[in-house]
Amino acid sequence: MKASIITDGVAAIHADIKTTDRFEGIWPIPDGVSLNSYLVKGEKTALIDLAKDWNGSIESFEEQLSSAGTSFEKIDYLILNHLEPDHTAFIIEMRKRNPSVQIISTAKGIALVKNFFKITENLREVKTGDILDLGAGRVLAFVEAPNVHWPETMVTYDTKDKILFCCDAFGSYGSLGEKVFDDEFSEEEHKFFENESLRYYANIVASFSTFVLKAIEKLSAFEIKVIAPSHGIIWRKNPEAIVERYTKYAGYNTGGNLEKEICVIWGSMYGYTKAGVDAVLEGIREEGVKAVVHRIPDTDSSYVLADAYKAAGLVLAMPTYEYKMFPPMAHVLDLFERKHFTGKKTLRIGSWGWVGGAKKEYDEMTAPLKWEQMPSYEWQGVPSQEDLAALKECGKALAKSIKG
Ligand code: FEO
Repeated sequence: MKASIITDGVAAIHADIKTTDRFEGIWPIPDGVSLNSYLVKGEKTALIDLAKDWNGSIESFEEQLSSAGTSFEKIDYLILNHLEPDHTAFIIEMRKRNPSVQIISTAKGIALVKNFFKITENLREVKTGDILDLGAGRVLAFVEAPNVHWPETMVTYDTKDKILFCCDAFGSYGSLGEKVFDDEFSEEEHKFFENESLRYYANIVASFSTFVLKAIEKLSAFEIKVIAPSHGIIWRKNPEAIVERYTKYAGYNTGGNLEKEICVIWGSMYGYTKAGVDAVLEGIREEGVKAVVHRIPDTDSSYVLADAYKAAGLVLAMPTYEYKMFPPMAHVLDLFERKHFTGKKTLRIGSWGWVGGAKKEYDEMTAPLKWEQMPSYEWQGVPSQEDLAALKECGKALAKSIKG
């Protein structure tokens, strides 16, 4: 496999990871993920970010370096925008092969290099405004972008060709295959990556939306011709598209506009809560509002997060289980709280057996999110015709409030 040439002197090295492993050990990636690194040449050579040694990624990495006329041994500078191991796990081996390579990162990044990998020499701390002159007119500038995605994160900007190397920002799940640039993908393929970028954002980045918006604001001062993230498509034809998309995503939990749709998340032990969900859905559909439905735990929480994150409305349906709520729903709500899924209009319903309890736990778990909540609707055992009629009205009322 060859490196992908971005401009004369800048190339992308990318590893397509196809694995049954989960990303971060949590999130399924049935369609893989790409790990992108970048080679930048002046008189000296810099490598921006590394990869995780994952399913032959390093062999592929070396092959691509070779295609670009270099190797790990010939790299002068290793720039680490972000220290999460999906971008750094090969650092010890690289340092063994190339002891003189200078490792460049923010002060917090260098501290992690020392603490994670026990590397203490040839390290250089940089901050916003610092530059690295590679010679031959190739000057890289560094901009700190804390918490996009870890506190040490920075981005690197190529001042010659106006390329932004932004690590996790503007990324997505999904392996790229032979194509890497936005103008190479079909509309259908772009739709796939759009879905995967939302899922990636909701799973990994959503907790840090305020920092994403700050970083986008900071970077608006730069002329950017190419956005080169560490996961997913490289944007050279229409870099504005991914910036707009990320701005929209960051707005979903910071007071921006949510999509006028309802995500219905339900779990049911014997079908009694499911009967209530059907009645609510009937009401929502009568109002003509889009509903996306996920049963838990059948649907992995990664996908539930993606659809719930963008939706203005949520229906959360679960029975009482051992005096508390149906456990898979507690897991989903815990993720919503951790990832600050704010600004929702919600309806919670569910049946109970011989005593309730789900509502109490639900109210406690969702209180920090300050949702605009309709009153919970609960019933014992099989819902009556009156219950079903009332639940349908609940669905209609929620849908009407979403339509505005
Ligand atoms: Fe792709 Fe936060 O690492």
